Amino acid sequence: MTNDAYLDRQLPVEARIADLLGRMTLEEKVGQMLQLDAREDLDDQVLRMHAGSILHASPARVLRARDLTQQTRLRIPLLVAEDCIHGHAFWEGGTVFPTQLGMAATWDAALIERVARATAAEVSATGIHWTFSPVLCIARDLRWGRVDETFGEDPYLIGELASAMVRGYQGGGLDDPDAILATAKHFAGYSETQGGRDASEADISRRKLRSWFLPPFERVAREGCRTFMLGYQTTDGVPITVNDWLLNDVLRGEWGYTGTLITDWDNVGRMVWEQKVQPDYAHAAAAAVKAGNDMVMTTPGFFDGAREAIEKGLMAESDLDRAVSRILRLKFEFGLFENPRLPDAQRIETVIGSPEHVALNLETARRSLVLLQNDGTLPLAGAGEARRVAVVGPLADDAQTQLGDWAGSSGQVDWLPDGQPRSLITTVLDGLRAHAPAGWQITHARGADILTLEEDPEGAYFPDGQPRPQIVVPVAPDAALIAEAVSAAEEADYVVAVVGDRVELVGEGRSTATLELLGGQQALLEALAATGTPLIVVLLASKPLVLPPSVTEAAALVWTANPGMEGGRAIAELLLGHIEPSGRLPISFARHVGQQPTYYNQLRGQHGSRYADLTQSPAHAFGEGLSYTTVEYSDLRIEESALKAGDTVRATVAVRNTGDRPAREVVQAYIRDTVTSVSWADKELKAFTVVDIAPGAEAIVALEIAVADCTIVDADGVRVVEPGEFELLVGPSSRDEALLAGRFTVSAGTADPAVEWATAAVLTP
Ligand code: NOJ
Repeated sequence: MTNDAYLDRQLPVEARIADLLGRMTLEEKVGQMLQLDAREDLDDQVLRMHAGSILHASPARVLRARDLTQQTRLRIPLLVAEDCIHGHAFWEGGTVFPTQLGMAATWDAALIERVARATAAEVSATGIHWTFSPVLCIARDLRWGRVDETFGEDPYLIGELASAMVRGYQGGGLDDPDAILATAKHFAGYSETQGGRDASEADISRRKLRSWFLPPFERVAREGCRTFMLGYQTTDGVPITVNDWLLNDVLRGEWGYTGTLITDWDNVGRMVWEQKVQPDYAHAAAAAVKAGNDMVMTTPGFFDGAREAIEKGLMAESDLDRAVSRILRLKFEFGLFENPRLPDAQRIETVIGSPEHVALNLETARRSLVLLQNDGTLPLAGAGEARRVAVVGPLADDAQTQLGDWAGSSGQVDWLPDGQPRSLITTVLDGLRAHAPAGWQITHARGADILTLEEDPEGAYFPDGQPRPQIVVPVAPDAALIAEAVSAAEEADYVVAVVGDRVELVGEGRSTATLELLGGQQALLEALAATGTPLIVVLLASKPLVLPPSVTEAAALVWTANPGMEGGRAIAELLLGHIEPSGRLPISFARHVGQQPTYYNQLRGQHGSRYADLTQSPAHAFGEGLSYTTVEYSDLRIEESALKAGDTVRATVAVRNTGDRPAREVVQAYIRDTVTSVSWADKELKAFTVVDIAPGAEAIVALEIAVADCTIVDADGVRVVEPGEFELLVGPSSRDEALLAGRFTVSAGTADPAVEWATAAVLTP
């Protein structure tokens, strides 16, 4: 065969990289840094441009790409990447879980780790090595189109859940056949948009980055997330792609990150044609390489640009070696030279949509549902008599919408134009028909439509060739549809209205100016409310929406983010009382789009605490969610209230189930630093635990928070514990009125060298 050292699996990875790098031409090195869109000219990408990686490859193209690499001189295998961000959702029949925001509503890291493990098993079986997940952006402005992709608004919750997801994807390490590469994205601050506009300048100081945006990334960087994706946006004028401070001082320097960096879609080209901060592709390529990018996503112009940059002396060929070595390292550690991990028919047959994965999906969907209002109408099955239920609304039987963005026909790939098979998706209508007790009558009327689409006058494509989203035109209420729904409601004991948003209002480039229910939905809800039949609203919305009086005054309200394939069954079970509601909001709901920001962890300090015409209090706050039972918190005790560095705040709280149904309670613990040297959030989530409590029973729940975690970021941008007085706040949500408070003090000490201490003098109140 061959004596090529890089093909000798006995040699250490370092030696194999050095050998291969020594053989590569300049073109091959530049190409190795490229990740290209496999829907385009794959032959050209592999044979002429020597691409190192592809994304959005249909199942057929994964195989074709392998054939092509076999024709290349060095036969370097490709890394195949895809956005499998809530399941293997672009594979026909793959398990589509709730979106990340829905998963976050479970507040269950172990469950999310299992979801990621199942996803990795499905994805790896199909010849894909790399998923662009999880998203660690903090949801701030609800108008942003990508709120659904986040774990919500709290950095601690995001860190807990993202860490679990990374563990699930990467499994036991790259030699695990079920492992895929995880990607922490979008580093960093991408979600801090202007007016919610996607990828606009993120106006954040370094101190604010360190305060809220960086901690979840730091956590997964230190825990070994193998890749990081760099956001599109500029911050203080500098594109993240070339932000030396963020990439080199912080990520590679302070955090010691040794993983691989990938740009987001055409970040390098965008610096030329969109942000206009580089004069041409040669300069852009040199700037990106020098800043430490390893893989360049979908900038074909990098191929010529990087070579021109070397010719012109803007960078040296050796500047490429560091990046190429990191990419090759992934390939060697994966063992791709020996086993390219191609689609495996037998594994596909057993793992894709397996009964275990379907069961896990159902469990996740059930746990993701948040009951926000209930006047006692729910659960429906309580009375035990035959009932008539009218199921209405444009989303009651809309299978593909239920899956959300980044799934099936949501627009990013072209091989599933009709979406996922209808037979694999249970809508709310399906769920109620299948699970309502025998003898119940389930009727259905759509009642309203939401929108139509028009071509954007600026053209169907952006300058980089990506499709430009069409313009959403809300439809007018349709009197005939409403009349049909009203008559169904009048003949029913209950009306379940499934309303919300559609994928055309969600995602990249699809931020919304408003947060209202669009199209004919509000008129439909008003008409239904006027019938007097108890109205149960299922808000199937990718993100928090602003709700009209017909909803806020409805008998019951359940929020579900796009709940995935099993969502309709889970919702039906919840309405019927076959399961207990246990989801909690990972994000606050505004009363009005102009009431933002509504996230709970805002800085202290403003004139007053309300608008002249509206309270600032959100409609539903972070952490909220009802049960079918009632739960009371009492007797918060802090074991030792005089603490030093290295100590742990240890507390207990009594949680009593005072109703007659089981409770699954998310006990939340927040810290308030009473006086800080610089303005700081009034409280921050620091711990939570999920407990099951039988009717009438009481649980004594223990909570622990390290003093080292009771930090702020000081005026110099250093994260410190400032000695002084603190409050521990414990309860069922972030609302002050729902929390019990206990006090403890922290005095300066040196017991824990890992903790930065502020000088005591500044802080003692
Ligand atoms: C752009 C998106 O911002 C990113 O999240 C995604 O992973 C890439 N496109 C690849 O599809």
